[in-house]
Amino acid sequence: MTHPLTALNQRLGGIGYGGDYNPEQWSREVWREDVRLMREAGVNLVTVGVFSWSRVQPRPGAYDWELLDEVLDLLHAHGIAVDLATPTAAPPPWFTKLHPDALPVTASGTRLAHGSRQVFCPSSPAYAEAADAVVTALAKRYADHPAVALWHVHNEWGNHNALCYCDTSAAAFRTWLRDRYTTLDALNSAWGTDFWSQRYGDWDEIDPPRDTTAFRNPGQELDYRRFSSDALLTRHHAETALLRRLAPGIPVTTNLMGTLEKKADGYAFAPACDLVSVDHYLTAADPDGHIDLALNADLARGMAGGAPWLLMEHSTSAVNWQPVNVAKHPGELRRNSLTHLARGADGIMFFQWRQSTAGAEKWHSAMLPHAGTDSRIWREVSALGAELSALSEVTGTRVQGDVALLFDWPNWWALELQARPSDRLRYLDVVRDWYAALWALNLTCDLVPPGADLTPYRAVVAPNLYLLADQDAANLDGYVRQGGHLAVGCFSGVADTQDRVRPGGYPGALRDVLGLRVDEYLPLRPGQSALLDDGTLAHDWAERVEPRGCSAVLRFADTPDGGPAAGGPAVTRHAHGRGSARYVATRPSAPTLRELMRTLADEAGVRPVAPEGVEAVRRTGPQGSYLFLVNHTADDVTVPVRGTGLLDAKVTDTGALVPAGGVVVVREHE
Ligand code: GLA
Repeated sequence: MTHPLTALNQRLGGIGYGGDYNPEQWSREVWREDVRLMREAGVNLVTVGVFSWSRVQPRPGAYDWELLDEVLDLLHAHGIAVDLATPTAAPPPWFTKLHPDALPVTASGTRLAHGSRQVFCPSSPAYAEAADAVVTALAKRYADHPAVALWHVHNEWGNHNALCYCDTSAAAFRTWLRDRYTTLDALNSAWGTDFWSQRYGDWDEIDPPRDTTAFRNPGQELDYRRFSSDALLTRHHAETALLRRLAPGIPVTTNLMGTLEKKADGYAFAPACDLVSVDHYLTAADPDGHIDLALNADLARGMAGGAPWLLMEHSTSAVNWQPVNVAKHPGELRRNSLTHLARGADGIMFFQWRQSTAGAEKWHSAMLPHAGTDSRIWREVSALGAELSALSEVTGTRVQGDVALLFDWPNWWALELQARPSDRLRYLDVVRDWYAALWALNLTCDLVPPGADLTPYRAVVAPNLYLLADQDAANLDGYVRQGGHLAVGCFSGVADTQDRVRPGGYPGALRDVLGLRVDEYLPLRPGQSALLDDGTLAHDWAERVEPRGCSAVLRFADTPDGGPAAGGPAVTRHAHGRGSARYVATRPSAPTLRELMRTLADEAGVRPVAPEGVEAVRRTGPQGSYLFLVNHTADDVTVPVRGTGLLDAKVTDTGALVPAGGVVVVREHE
């Protein structure tokens, strides 16, 4: 069956291109200019209605479709398809006045006020009723509108309101816990409530983990995270079910946030969409923002199960929500967009079409900036539209990672709970270190959950698996036994899914596959380092590793500089079944980690296609094989590849010339 995104691409005549269109902010004359300029820029898809609730339903029960009717007709008349959003991310002021109990409450008991967006409790029945009503009305109104090509459910579930601690949430949490545990004994055991006299004798004694005197119960916290993500997912399912019933045949998506959103488990939401779409924004202060971009694109692909996905939002230049909002360099917008495309996006969208002149996001860049069409941004936006149109043939092709990088939201939640051996092991930091090493070596990786089918991958890396289900540990063991090559980072395998430590020595569920035992964790002080015997310094963490079948690849130096585990193994390799399993019992420097990944890739037989500094990703499909080359260096580079250059690429007998800072796409020949 044709994938829903591929079907959408066919309808659009190529790669989706556009952004959030918020016409509520503008007059009719501006709308007419908008559609003209959209055509000029090659825009074929816009997201409409994300924040339109107070316009389409100005009063309880009263709908006013005039604006949306006119805008949808206008867009359709100009050949621009609509990704129609349910407006449920921004309840109108009248809703809050009618239902003050639906306002979210913080862990310290403060009830938040109206005045922004997502000001609702995810478990509020009043919110659910109001949201279902407006979604129903919207779906009925536009089910047959010829412009509507996609439904956009809500906006960034949980971005601002995922964790609510009100009494309604407390009651919903208790119901969720009864479903999960059935008996209080099971809950008491899972949460370890016999410590600190926390044993519950009645379900009604259980509250959300609100602010308290000292450490909160970790089991309660972890389950509150799960419950909160599920509460949002319940709302997602409700909206999706209405849309599918009332407007069948139109695919449904929601803009997920990848690593920008810790609180909503992306792997749970993705299967509840017909096609996966994501938002990504660069962190201006991060000099390696392009690596974070690649990581998130690979995560989007992982969430999509390898299928093409849609980049629903990114920025043409600066955002407005960081301390200093740095503008993109000339050419960066193109590089960013084509990198998403290289990694499997079949649509490139922005927040937003026309830059606001009022409201909270007027200092956020847009496709059409305050300066108008006589601007660098507009010229780059129009040029990109033309290039995407010339790249239509890549739609539907897929990227297959050589390496799987295991990424997991519940593990992220658990690793960063209170009272751990060290607060310096931050999940995203560790994941980014490992990903950066793979990225530098041009090893394409899919980010997948630990329970995923790992058979397509020559190597699997797990930067951290603090929380690991027994069956996921068995999945890794089976993968290695059958010939796979695995590398696991420190402080892994320790806890079960309830954050209960497995006794008998660390790394718990991974002792056998890794062929070692650890009797004590030895975290390093801030600023302290441990010398490794390759002469590099490691940070934050050390372990006393006792080999039980593994051999040491690297050791902590056998001197006082070697830190608390001096002389002991720091990196190990274990031959297990037909494969191998490495353990990294510290946080090595970038060069050491890169070397480790290089060795792993060599053993797994994975060969990068381009030199370091030129990001290379291949998309393949029945129509051919396309190599994307993104040059991050200050010099032009020739990459040996045979094929035809798309866009204006020069491909000669010696290969493709990739200009400094440029991107080249080559349709490869045998
Ligand atoms: C998010 C939201 C958008 C907008 C952008 C700004 O992605 O979905 O509505 O606020 O951030 O970067």
